[in-house]
Amino acid sequence: MKAAPQTRDQALRPRDFDVARVRQDFPILNEKIHGKPLVYFDNGATSQKPQAVIDALSHYYCAENSNIHRGVHHLSEQATAAYEAARSKIRDFINARADKEIIFVRGTTEAINLVAQSYGRNFLKAGDEIIVSAMEHHSNIVPWQMLCEQVGAKLRVVPINHDGEIVMDEYRRLLNDKTKIVSIAHVSNALGTIVPVKEIVTLAHERSIPVLLDGAQAVPHIKVDVQALGCDFYAFSGHKMFGPTGVGVLYGRAELLEKMPPYQGGGDMISLVTFEKTHYNVLPYKFEAGTPHISGGIGLGAAIDYLTNLDWDQVRAHEHRVLSYATEALSAIHGLRIIGTAREKAGVLSFVFDHVHAHDVGTILDQEGVAVRAGHHCAMPVMQRFGVPATARASFAFYNTIEEVDVLVRGIHRVLKVFG
Ligand SMILES: Cc1ncc(COP(=O)(O)O)c(C=O)c1O
Repeated sequence: MKAAPQTRDQALRPRDFDVARVRQDFPILNEKIHGKPLVYFDNGATSQKPQAVIDALSHYYCAENSNIHRGVHHLSEQATAAYEAARSKIRDFINARADKEIIFVRGTTEAINLVAQSYGRNFLKAGDEIIVSAMEHHSNIVPWQMLCEQVGAKLRVVPINHDGEIVMDEYRRLLNDKTKIVSIAHVSNALGTIVPVKEIVTLAHERSIPVLLDGAQAVPHIKVDVQALGCDFYAFSGHKMFGPTGVGVLYGRAELLEKMPPYQGGGDMISLVTFEKTHYNVLPYKFEAGTPHISGGIGLGAAIDYLTNLDWDQVRAHEHRVLSYATEALSAIHGLRIIGTAREKAGVLSFVFDHVHAHDVGTILDQEGVAVRAGHHCAMPVMQRFGVPATARASFAFYNTIEEVDVLVRGIHRVLKVFG
């Protein structure tokens, strides 16, 4: 959604979304940092967790801890039921067709590696092409480069324009008979750009090319419907969507997952093992070797329950207000340049000064209690595209407020005072 200008009065006008109420659900937001109230603007790196998620983790270890899928005893059955219930919640949350299309992984990174190694190694050969964009996170670049080295395929990169938007004509031009997979971020972590992924998918599907969408930065902001998007794979991380670290999801269309060999071997992913031959388990277990992050899966289920109880139209409107207010306020600061000015953005405001390094910006803001990310955001090609070594990045969640943006702006003025 384009960030329409907001005056402070407009932005602060009472709305349906009760942000003060919602903030009470996140205990960490009461913390003081260097004696100042925490202003947490590093949600793109990881989001904070509501009490409901913390309670779910604690409850699992206090009352349910047991290994899953293996035991006949009560605790194991209880833990298995809770873990599998979380899978069903995830299915509903992204509108997948079936539980078997939901693979628990460690996070977005592992999900993309799984597809590269299982799908890629089996269905790509020398001379084939893989399309990514110039604004990908390293986790949507490096696994494909590794695959290219293994099978002799080529990585093709769709350029982005100066606002940080995909150049769709170039994408159309790059698609050809050699293209065997397209892998693109739904929302850019460094720029905040919302990518027109439905169009990306439609154009690829006209040539029967499968598409993976990296949803790491989309799921915390956008209601995702994998059937409506039509994508073949969708990857995301629990910890960026108010759930625990170490757990994430690969959604895959069942027809494709069925054709793909296991990614790792071990317990749980087999139906029969002999030294002569092993038979693999059915979906989704074929891709879930070994004891998984059980509490993490259950905690992610609790995060989804929490998110499902929010009114997403209100959440979107509130986030839009905060982002547009912050965009206006930072644009007015002399010498500050915003990197990433796409028409459609979610949650991210990256900025630079010519004469102050992003790390210095981040360090001084930290003294004011403001947590922003400073660096290349695991997207070095984006930095290269914009000719900067690093940016400072404020990334927002629905619990952030207009008043917090004011603290950020005062902090930036302090940075400028210190560095002249
Ligand atoms: C767009 C995007 N993709 C992938 C990742 C990797 O996520 P994870 O480290 O949780 O695997 C991130 C993390 O910042 C991201 O922002």
